[in-house]
Amino acid sequence: MATIDRARIQHLMTRERELFRQRHPTSGELAGDSEWHLLYGVPMNWMTRWPGDHPVFVERAEGARFTDVDGNMFVDLCLGDTGGMAGHAPAIAVEAIAAQASRGITLMLPTADAAWVAREMARRFTVPFWSFTLTATDANRFVIRWARHLTGRPKIAVHNWCYHGTVDETFAALDEAGHVVAREGNVGPPVDLDHTTAVVEFNDLEGLERVLATGEVAACLFEPALTNIGIVLPDEGYHEAVRELCTRYGTILIIDETHTICAGPGGCTRAWGLQPDIVTIGKTLGAGIPSAAYGLSAEMARRVEEATDWDNADVGGTGGTLAGNALSLAAMRATLGEVLTDEAFERMIQLGMRFEQGVQQVIDERGLPFHVTRLGCRIEYLFRPDRARTGSEAAAGQDHELDALIHLYLLNRGILMTPFHNMALMSPATTADDVDRHTEVFDGAAGELMAG
Ligand SMILES: Cc1ncc(COP(=O)(O)O)c(C=O)c1O
Repeated sequence: MATIDRARIQHLMTRERELFRQRHPTSGELAGDSEWHLLYGVPMNWMTRWPGDHPVFVERAEGARFTDVDGNMFVDLCLGDTGGMAGHAPAIAVEAIAAQASRGITLMLPTADAAWVAREMARRFTVPFWSFTLTATDANRFVIRWARHLTGRPKIAVHNWCYHGTVDETFAALDEAGHVVAREGNVGPPVDLDHTTAVVEFNDLEGLERVLATGEVAACLFEPALTNIGIVLPDEGYHEAVRELCTRYGTILIIDETHTICAGPGGCTRAWGLQPDIVTIGKTLGAGIPSAAYGLSAEMARRVEEATDWDNADVGGTGGTLAGNALSLAAMRATLGEVLTDEAFERMIQLGMRFEQGVQQVIDERGLPFHVTRLGCRIEYLFRPDRARTGSEAAAGQDHELDALIHLYLLNRGILMTPFHNMALMSPATTADDVDRHTEVFDGAAGELMAG
């Protein structure tokens, strides 16, 4: 198997940065202006994480493509890190959103869309009772509160190298001695993380049983497959065993489907027949209009309703003034009903397979020490030869220099991947040509990398 020449990466990176500057003069000017009053020079700090001197400024986005302010056109495989998975500005959803906007946006009263969306979420994700938030972060925060309230236990168990939004309990990691510590970069943790959190490796059932047996764990908050440190898939039987352990130790099982909805219309919960007590999800549901939700099993809903202090429910810590607003529900109804349909997922997953095959062929033909992993319509290549089984293994396989080079190389040739890792997502608007274009450019990058 070939090895990658580090000097070659540096050399190509210098060339690609220069090309980026040439292709993006207007973005460069706007980035300069933005530095005066925007913290970090961007509207949200992660927007600094793109390779190149500054982010690309967008002029317009439609379907699976966008055009920047310099007139460059892109195939968008990042899709707002899943927020744009429905494709940008899908006409049917835009119409429904505009119609609702002209009839009222936020009321603190339900519209007819609420019951429709809840019924559809129940059909997809199997748990029957739903409530709405604006972000997946909030959905996770609220169900964590309920889990503590219902069980009287202090801790939430998460996977090492997980990401569940800006949720205090989840920014924990295992140090080399196996102790729970604040994750690197954690800004102002309110308490020491070992008071609030137990951390276990993905696929480590013995480790999970050890922490559940303490009786301190209110809930496991798990993604069915890790998606934020590369895709890490579960071993055969892992989820059945997790379910069994949670039941045995009286721990609530929360499955976060925010990214893993890529596995199908009902996420991994439906695709793999999981049996969570609670499902959380955000990002995709409203075609980009802030929309998120949590769903409860019948038993959880009964326990929550029985434990609700109705006189003080508004200060219980599980709501938001704009949550469940009319605009977000109209957006969800149109998106779930007409855009991210069961049929659309079939096509998106087929395209995901095509993408995976294309990348695999390049890896094989060029003898690259990489591998590609797919979960439904989400695909990722990692710069290590074999698949990771845990978050730690996946983290150890990261190659930030190579990551940045491949990103920039693709970006300079009209393809946008997700900034934190080499992830691609298919939308209902993505075409086979878009996928093949990526394969062609990825092959070009690989060829230049190995040419040294
Ligand atoms: C699995 C998972 N859950 C929750 C979130 C939080 O989503 P948001 O930032 O929209 O609240 C993310 C964000 O990347 C995520 O990947």
